[in-house]
Amino acid sequence: MKNSYSNIFNFNKKILHKIIVNLKKGNVVGLPTETVYGLAGNAYMSESINKIYKFKNRPKRNPLIIHYFNYKRAEQDVIMNKNFYKLYKKFCPGPITFILKRKKKSKVKFSATANLNSVAIRFPNHRVMNSLLKNIEFPLAMPSANKSSRVSPVSAKNVADEFQKKIKMIIDGGKANLGIESTVIDLTGHPKILRPGLITPENINQVLKIKLNIINNNRTSKSPGLLSKHYSPGIPVIINQKNCKKNCALITFGKKYKNKKNFYNLSRTSNLKEAASKLYEIFRKIKKDRYKKIYVVKIPNKGIGIAINDRLKRASN
Ligand code: TXA
Ligand code: MG
Repeated sequence: MKNSYSNIFNFNKKILHKIIVNLKKGNVVGLPTETVYGLAGNAYMSESINKIYKFKNRPKRNPLIIHYFNYKRAEQDVIMNKNFYKLYKKFCPGPITFILKRKKKSKVKFSATANLNSVAIRFPNHRVMNSLLKNIEFPLAMPSANKSSRVSPVSAKNVADEFQKKIKMIIDGGKANLGIESTVIDLTGHPKILRPGLITPENINQVLKIKLNIINNNRTSKSPGLLSKHYSPGIPVIINQKNCKKNCALITFGKKYKNKKNFYNLSRTSNLKEAASKLYEIFRKIKKDRYKKIYVVKIPNKGIGIAINDRLKRASN
C-alpha cells in the first residue's frame, strides 16, 4: 500500500541502507520503537545532535536518550553496575531507560547529554530498531519525534504531521505498541524512577528487592527535561473530572461510561495497559474533532496508572 506522504517509507533492505547512509552523513531519521516514535541521529556526531535540538525546538539543557543494540555496545560509553545488569537481564530489550555514569572515554557527544556526567541508555524492542542498530557502529540519540512539550507520536503519520517535509525520511513500523515513553530510572546512586512507564515500580522492586525512590511531580534538577510543561495536546486538559458539557471532550475509563459523541474511552475493560496505549492517540483525535477542552476522569494511581497519571498531570499543567 502506498501512502500519501512522500517522506514515509516501509522498512526493507534497500531502505535500511538509505537510513544508514543518512545517519552517517549527520542527518536525522524518524524511527518507530515499541514505546513511541523517535527522531534519531548519530550520537557520536555533533551535527546530528544539533539538528535534533533544532527540529524539536528542544532546550539544550534537556538531555537525550542514547539507543544501543545491546549492553556490550554500550560498555564503551557508560559505567555499568549490578542493578543495571539485573534490570537489563529482566527487561531488555524493552521500554526502560537507564541513567548511568559516563565513562571518561565515552564518544557520546556532550551536547547530546546536556553536558552532564551521566548518559541515559535504552535498548528498544522493535524489529526496525533491532536490524538498524545491529548494522551500525554508533548508537542513536533519539528523543520522541515531537516538537518540544507536545504529545509524543505513535505512528509514522503523527511524525510527518508534526514536522511536515522537514524530515526527509520517516520509517513506518506500524503503530507504536505501548504508546507511552519508557520508564526512566536513575542508577547512578540509589535507584530512583525519574519518569514512570510501562515497567512499574513494583516490576522493578521485584528484581532489585529494594525500596525504590520515585521522584514526585515537583521535579528537581535531576532530570532536567522533566521540569517543563510536557505532553500538551495544545488545548487545556483538566484532570480528575466526573463529567463535562457537550462542547468539551471527556476521556473516560471503564464500562460505566456511555458511548456519547464527546466521550473517548481509554479502556472499557479498565485495562491500564490498553489505556496507556490509547492515551496520545485519543489526545490527537479529540483535537482533530475540534473540541476546545479535554476533561479526564480519575484514573487509578497504581501500576501503569502511575505513568498515565504522570502524563495527564503534566499535560494539564
Ligand atoms: O520511550 C522513549 O524513551 C522514547 C523513545 C523514542 O525511545 N524516547 C523519549 O525520549 O521519550 P525523550 O527525549 O522524549 O525523553 C527523555 C527523557 C527526558 O525527560 C530527559 O530529561 C531524560 O530522559 N534524560 C535523558 N538523559 C538524562 C540524564 N543523563 N539524566 C537524567 N535524565 C535524563
Ligand atoms: Mg519526549
